[in-house]
Amino acid sequence: MKIMAICGSLRKDSYNRALLKIAQEVAPKGVTIEIVELAGIPVFNQDEEESPPKAVKDFKNKIKKADAILISTPEYNYSIPGPLMNAIDTASRPYGENVWDGKVVGLMGASMGMQGTSRAQLQLRQAFVYLNIHTLNKPEVMIGVVHEKFDKNGRLIDPKTKAKVAELVEALVDLVKEKQGSD
Ligand SMILES: Cc1cc2nc3c(=O)[nH]c(=O)nc-3n(C[C@H](O)[C@H](O)[C@H](O)COP(=O)(O)O)c2cc1C
Repeated sequence: MKIMAICGSLRKDSYNRALLKIAQEVAPKGVTIEIVELAGIPVFNQDEEESPPKAVKDFKNKIKKADAILISTPEYNYSIPGPLMNAIDTASRPYGENVWDGKVVGLMGASMGMQGTSRAQLQLRQAFVYLNIHTLNKPEVMIGVVHEKFDKNGRLIDPKTKAKVAELVEALVDLVKEKQGSD
């Protein structure tokens, strides 16, 4: 099973990318998780959607080929970070070529605030309805005050966070199997 992972932050030392690396560590046998970077995807311009650059074609192809997508994102100003929403919009276009259609998506997020990306995640779930994404409902993984859950060297020091990530990956894998079984 191939899971494509997307980090909503471009930051080198992103906590959300660290969570995706933990997802890679805890993934069950036979499941590979590839982190795909959003850097390089241009700001969406509808005038150019019919002739996308290679970075966009590659990004859309990776989504098409993946059995599931795992997103880990921060929250920017109580909302979805621009680079992530830009990538979501980009891969939904042009009309009729929405590669998110029917995809299984798992969602988690980490932020320094108390609510751990609850608002951004809810807004993503809303957009995913229109895109016809099968979003994993539970578990909801919202890691608040994330800077206290990693040490100065970027190592996770909170076992509960690791357990939550593992629970999410397991549920995502189960949902993929359920969907593939019913196809
Ligand atoms: C533009 C911007 C807006 C932010 N807004 C929020 C916010 O609404 N809620 C929150 O909890 N943290 C907010 N933060 C702080 C982030 O939680 C923090 O920078 C976090 O480390 C980002 O995730 P990353 O480590 O994956 O890059 C904001 C950060 C930036 C740069």
